[in-house]
Amino acid sequence: MAKLYINAAAKKSRISRNIYGHFSEHLGRCIYNGLYVGEDSAIPNVNGMRSDVVEALKNIRVPVLRWPGGCFADEYHWKDGVGPKASRKKMINTHWGGVLEDNSFGTHEFLEFCRQVGCEPYINGNVGSGTVQEMSEWVEYMTFDGVSPMADLRKQNGHEAPWKIKYFGVGNENWGCGGNMRPSYYADEYRRYQTYLRNYGDNKIYRIACGPNGADYGWMETLMDIAAPFMDGISLHYYTVPGPDWNNKTSATDFNEELYYRTLFNARKMDEIVTRHSAIMDRYDPEKRIGLIVDEWGTWYDVEPGTNPGFLYQQNTMRDAMVAALTLNVFNAHSDRVRMANIAQMVNVLQAVILTEGEKMLLTPTYHIFDLYQCHQDADLLESCLDTPKAGALPGEQVPQLSASASMDQNGVIHITAANLSASEPCPVECALDGFAARKVSARILAGRMDACNTFDAPETVKPAPFDGVSLTEKGLSFTLPACSAAEITVE
Ligand code: AHR
Repeated sequence: MAKLYINAAAKKSRISRNIYGHFSEHLGRCIYNGLYVGEDSAIPNVNGMRSDVVEALKNIRVPVLRWPGGCFADEYHWKDGVGPKASRKKMINTHWGGVLEDNSFGTHEFLEFCRQVGCEPYINGNVGSGTVQEMSEWVEYMTFDGVSPMADLRKQNGHEAPWKIKYFGVGNENWGCGGNMRPSYYADEYRRYQTYLRNYGDNKIYRIACGPNGADYGWMETLMDIAAPFMDGISLHYYTVPGPDWNNKTSATDFNEELYYRTLFNARKMDEIVTRHSAIMDRYDPEKRIGLIVDEWGTWYDVEPGTNPGFLYQQNTMRDAMVAALTLNVFNAHSDRVRMANIAQMVNVLQAVILTEGEKMLLTPTYHIFDLYQCHQDADLLESCLDTPKAGALPGEQVPQLSASASMDQNGVIHITAANLSASEPCPVECALDGFAARKVSARILAGRMDACNTFDAPETVKPAPFDGVSLTEKGLSFTLPACSAAEITVE
């Protein structure tokens, strides 16, 4: 039995909707085939954007989307992707799969995609192989309203009015694919590059510095020490890899309970990583002005057999749903510092919420977690406390059986998301609700075997269903979650 205590009278931090953000890179079939099929495609589209994908993303209220990478960002030269498509440069995507990149999806197309989905764009600039001038001109191109070489070029390319661009990343993984820099060198480069990201008119750029790789606390310390006053946010990347090393990350679909729990155990390290980075940030920024932007997270397995190893295409099971459920609960719990997170990646790459094959599209178990959890967007985190049994066979790799979050939205409605991480055992939950007179409860649940997934032949094997197993008690709520499940409970 797990016990969950929620204090409805104690509101903590606001859970930024951007915690439910996404990431899309010019990698494999994420952009091309995934988001964009071109105006002439037989696949239904508006201005080249897949209508089925746009619709699905609107349904989970995607708040923000990062682009164009990833490692691709530090090889991307934005001028190659504007102007008449016929004359855009064709090149090889050397980082990902060695395939042709025809630049038919560029700045205008990305911002059109965001417009259709209704999300904020988050653009990642090139530090590794770009220049200060190039980055500065990109911002001028997109946001300057007046006469200037870049604003004129934008108008010539068919977009008269400037766009509003808030989120801008200064380089990606500059400790690795973004230039193999040392932290003090990057920190100085960051200071220089961000100087020339101008705020034109009332457009105000939220500057995001390249942060650490997982548990690299030294990088965070140096960046905070040298560059804190110059940034609004700092990124963090952490991937969950269940295999013994990067050369054997193991299969996305063929795994046993040991690998299932190891995956969840590794995913839960996010809590410690965020806690320790936040503690460093607190020393330099006690007011919590700077956001921790976890702009790449998710599971990373071996690619599906027979697919291009550079495309990072993997299936998605209930195990991934549990990773998403627990990770989003971790971000909610740290929403005083974590202001944005972007799962990697949106379509057809790594822990995707959507997979496509030609004209077919399916929603993954991870998608359904984003659906259940959208209730927390911009709600207030409520104080809570959890007493839960552990799950997992190996003593060193056990996880709490129950993972949960509670928030109150602007209408005073309470939302609880609770996941039973056990692969085999149900989880009875007694939930005490203080400071709230509950009158009505409703719930939805996503449940299935740990390796259940949706395929193009059976796309609805895993999907949410109404859950009538929650009862109101004198103290609050009582319910039992089946093994490997996550529920969204609404209390009015
Ligand atoms: O998401 C795939 C890659 O992982 C990104 O390009 C890079 O930033 C990270 O290493």
